[in-house]
Amino acid sequence: MEKHHIETMIDEEAVNTRIKELGEEISRDYAGKTIQLICILKGSVYFTCELAKRITVPVIMDFMQCSSYGAATKSSGVVKLSKDLDMAITDRHVIIIEDIIDSGRTLSHLKNLLAQRNPKSLKICTLLDKPDRRVVDVDVDYVGFQIEDKFVVGYGLDYDQLYRNLPYIGVVEFE
Ligand code: IMP
Ligand code: MG
Repeated sequence: MEKHHIETMIDEEAVNTRIKELGEEISRDYAGKTIQLICILKGSVYFTCELAKRITVPVIMDFMQCSSYGAATKSSGVVKLSKDLDMAITDRHVIIIEDIIDSGRTLSHLKNLLAQRNPKSLKICTLLDKPDRRVVDVDVDYVGFQIEDKFVVGYGLDYDQLYRNLPYIGVVEFE
């Protein structure tokens, strides 16, 4: 592993405040409905749990895993589905929860895949968005923070599987 250190980009309080706001917004938008939250493993685990706690309408959680990244910090462009959902989403109000949208490949692939199962509605919520890096266009309905093109970790995001447990968003600075 290259020599590096982590600099804080978004501190713990700011992340938690923003997630609370997103939870309130989603609760208003889905009043009277039940939401099926799709957590994209592993990166979205922390965000999904914090967000779910802030949603006041009924929530069902399910998990899905796919990968487009190897051990490196650059996308391979290949999206592989390694764990499918346990439950059907037909006629459900579905929100896909992502940690970060980078090239957009993962989410555009997942959205197309889930749309084929005929949910009643299908939206996307991401904690972070790096718009400068977009290769594939995707409609994102809820965004926590737009960030510049830096490699970030924490709050579920990893660098070679490390740092997911940081309670804030940090930038990896290579020395
Ligand atoms: P995309 O398919 O290029 O949009 O990539 C999305 C996935 O790449 C995310 O779910 C992350 O797992 C990973 N990723 C993209 N940018 C970063 C980053 O800055 N830090 C950690 N993981 C990232
Ligand atoms: Mg991920």
